[in-house]
Amino acid sequence: MARLTARLVWVAVLAVLSAGAVTLGNGELLDDFPYDLPQMRIISKQNPNLSLTARDETVVLAKTDFNDTSQVWFQDDRSIGTLGTDDGCRKPFALVNINIITSTAQAIVPPDDGSLPVKLGPYSPFHCVQLSTLWTKSRPVSGFSTIRMFSDDSRAFNGLEGTGKEGTVIGILPTDGVNPNVQWKIVDFSHA
Ligand SMILES: *[C@@H]1O[C@H](CO)[C@@H](O)[C@H](O)[C@H]1NC(C)=O
Ligand SMILES: *[C@@H]1O[C@H](CO)[C@@H](O)[C@H](O)[C@H]1NC(C)=O
Repeated sequence: MARLTARLVWVAVLAVLSAGAVTLGNGELLDDFPYDLPQMRIISKQNPNLSLTARDETVVLAKTDFNDTSQVWFQDDRSIGTLGTDDGCRKPFALVNINIITSTAQAIVPPDDGSLPVKLGPYSPFHCVQLSTLWTKSRPVSGFSTIRMFSDDSRAFNGLEGTGKEGTVIGILPTDGVNPNVQWKIVDFSHA
């Protein structure tokens, strides 16, 4: 019941966010999603006016838009159990967006075809959370962290081509964490 209540609240918020244009369907696929996780956005150190945005099967940078549900990310560290250490940084999490058109949860996953861009894959935490779905944050420097693969922490989110502009595609590359195009902050969705 608690989860149902949380879900209804979340759906209401989503309906407001989408300004009534789009509403969730029956949402069977979403019934098990932990809706009471806070809604977050992920901003780039390179240009904090840009947010990670789910677009088609990829993730890109786009101008921050508080009405855009494709910029809402859930940092799901709850469905993972006790995997990994919990020092606040190495704790693994999935990064999940709800596609309000298809009413499905989708998680950021590394490419599995040798290409650089991350992909969006189906996410069903009560069924199975694959290791490849998991990320960790490095210790923040000036508030910004790298977001690294849990299963290979030499590789991290990278604003590809280093230009950090509208449409920049997010990929996975080895990094020393120094350049601003590999540094991110996960903030409350309403953070300006
Ligand atoms: C966001 O939605 C609110 C309320 O529906 C509306 O007043 C506002 O103009 C929208 N902002 C943008 C940037 O679309
Ligand atoms: C971010 O937006 C603010 C306000 O519009 C602007 O002053 C600033 O230059 C922008 N920052 C970048 C890096 O584009």
